[in-house]
Amino acid sequence: MMKMLTYSNNDQMPALGLGTWKSDPGVVKKAIIEAIAIGYLHIDCAAIYGNENEIGEALEECMNKGMVKREELWITSKLWNDSHKQGEVQPALEKTLADLRLDYLDLYLMHWPVAFKHGTSFPENSEGYLSLDEAPLAETWQAMQEVQKKGLAKHIGTSNFSINKLEQLIALGGQIPEMNQVELHPYLQQQGLIDFCHQNDIHVTAYSPLGSMDRPQVFKKEGEPVPLENGTIKSIAEAKGISPAQVLLAWPLHRKISVIPKSTNPKRLRENFEAHAIALSDDEMHAIASLDQHERIIDGSFFVAEDKGYTVANLWDE
Ligand code: A2P
Repeated sequence: MMKMLTYSNNDQMPALGLGTWKSDPGVVKKAIIEAIAIGYLHIDCAAIYGNENEIGEALEECMNKGMVKREELWITSKLWNDSHKQGEVQPALEKTLADLRLDYLDLYLMHWPVAFKHGTSFPENSEGYLSLDEAPLAETWQAMQEVQKKGLAKHIGTSNFSINKLEQLIALGGQIPEMNQVELHPYLQQQGLIDFCHQNDIHVTAYSPLGSMDRPQVFKKEGEPVPLENGTIKSIAEAKGISPAQVLLAWPLHRKISVIPKSTNPKRLRENFEAHAIALSDDEMHAIASLDQHERIIDGSFFVAEDKGYTVANLWDE
C-alpha cells in the first residue's frame, strides 16, 4: 500500500511522487504518461523547470483517456523567485495552471527564500536580486494565503526554508506552511529540521533523494560523495535483493517523509515506484542514519549576492 501523508483537512498526499527537475521537455510528456500508467499519482513540478507545458499535455491526455481522474492526482508546483511581490504571485500561479491544464494545484510552494526582480530567471549579478527588505517573505506568504483562499491551491508551503524562516512565517499567525520541501538523502539527513517540522504539523518532502547526478555543472563540486554508490547502501540493497535506489527511496518513507525521485526512463520509473512497498529493518535504518555528513548538493552558493543580504550562511541560517 502506498504510504500517504495526511493534511489538517484530511486531504491525503501519496508519499512517493515523481520529480521533474531536469526532465527534458522533449521526453517529459512520455515519462509522465508512463509514470501514471505505472501508478504514480503525485507529480512534483515547478515553473522554473521549464517543462510544465509538456507535463500539462501529458496530464490532459491521461485524464482524457480515463487513465486517472483529477481528484486522484496530487500535483505540486512552485512559485519562482521573481514573483515574490504582492500582485505577482497569483499571475505566476495562473501561468502554471494554464501550462499544466489544471484549475487548481494540490500544493503550491515558495521555491526559495530568495527574491529576484520580476522577469529574472537567474540573475547575472546582484542587480537582479531584491533584498528580503524589498521583498519580505511575509509579503509573499500573505499572497500565497490569498491564492489558497481563492481555491487556486488547496495547500501551500515552502521549499528550502530553514527552521528560522519557518518560524518567521508561523509567527505571522495565519496559515502555517503545510509542507517544506528540502534536499534530503543519507549524506544530508537534517534530523533537526525534520523534528521541528513534524512537531509543528509541517510535512517534509525529500528532493534529490538519489543525489541528482544529472544536475547541471553549476551545481557540481569536485569529489562529492554519491549516495547511490555508498557501500552501506549497496550492501543493504544486495542483502535484500533490491537496488541501491530503492534503499534510498524506502528510507525517507520510513521517516514519514515524502520523496520525489526524478526519472524519465521507463525501467527506472517502475523500479523507483516499487520502492514504496519495501520495508527496512531498524538495523538497516540505524546503519543509514550513521552516514550523515551534512553535505549539501544544492548548497545555495549560486544565490549569493552579499550586497542584497544573500550569503550561504544566511540562506540556511547555519
Ligand atoms: P534517469 O532520468 O535517466 O532515470 P534525483 O531524483 O536525486 O534528482 O536523481 C535523478 C537522477 O537519478 C537522474 O539522473 C536519473 O536518471 C537517475 N535515476 C533515477 N532513478 C534511478 C535508479 N533507479 N537508479 C539509478 N539512477 C536513477
